[in-house]
Amino acid sequence: MTSRVRVFSPATLSNLGPGFDILGLALAAPGDTVEGELRDEPGVEIADIDGDDGLLSRDSAQNVVGVAATHVLEQARRKGTTPGVRLWLHKGIPIASGLGGSAASSVAGAFVVNELLGRPFARMDLVDGALAGEQVAALSVHGDNIIPCLLGGIVLIRSLAPPDIVSLPVPRDLHVAVVHPHCRVSTAAARALLDGRRYPLEAAIANAANVGAFVSALYRDDVALLGRSIADALVEPVRAPLVPGFARVKDAALCHGALACSISGSGPTMFAIASSHGSAGRAAEAMRAAFAEAAGLESDVLVGQVNITGTSVVSGQ
Ligand code: HSE
Repeated sequence: MTSRVRVFSPATLSNLGPGFDILGLALAAPGDTVEGELRDEPGVEIADIDGDDGLLSRDSAQNVVGVAATHVLEQARRKGTTPGVRLWLHKGIPIASGLGGSAASSVAGAFVVNELLGRPFARMDLVDGALAGEQVAALSVHGDNIIPCLLGGIVLIRSLAPPDIVSLPVPRDLHVAVVHPHCRVSTAAARALLDGRRYPLEAAIANAANVGAFVSALYRDDVALLGRSIADALVEPVRAPLVPGFARVKDAALCHGALACSISGSGPTMFAIASSHGSAGRAAEAMRAAFAEAAGLESDVLVGQVNITGTSVVSGQ
């Protein structure tokens, strides 16, 4: 066992256009960091949280990091290990931004406990704990943030129960622009918009074609085909009104070097892809300006590549 460990869990882009709940990608930055230490008393204590503007509960039964950590401790108890843990959560991912913040905290909570206990579980065994955490925030079970956050790279979730995960190749020239306007969208509310919705067959066909082409583009290292495949006839049209300035931001990206642009998860963050760092930077800047002009919103801008390691230990003793 290790007495103190610090882990980093990356932000993620989910859905990636046509892949609602089944496609996700880990970003090199930002991310959440969780520090943990063993304690003699059983259970999980959240010692402190920073970077959350005081918005998150410090109660380990209410906070995703506490719920995920408790789940893994319980699993370990069945194997005979029973100490408790104390956690510190450093939020690097803005809350309700569409960048997988609750997933990152959940994965980090599950991961740090496994490390503290001397790694009794394989990485994929932590999925259930992380999903239990994520469910507290999103009120639903979906893995398109949790799985890329845990594994890194770009993933396809063919099934969550039982897990059937396909890690996909990451093209050399894939550059991502991420623009987070300063407003919030609740994932639970964005999902509620989709309840009971019915779609024309043509929309389902278009998304199936685009998911197929998306996967193929990654294997062919074909960023242009990838761009054409990031199109969503199902969810994006319904959620676009939740993102102030959506149409102007998307147009700005496409007119300034992006190959595609869509909503990150449930928004309000939008992402674009490009085949060079320069094009991604120009698209990001145009998107930032469009959010300001169309909606009067300041934004954080990030241009980067894909995180391929997933959640990892930053330091431990
Ligand atoms: N696939 C999920 C959604 C991701 O779009 O609702 C949100 O975290």
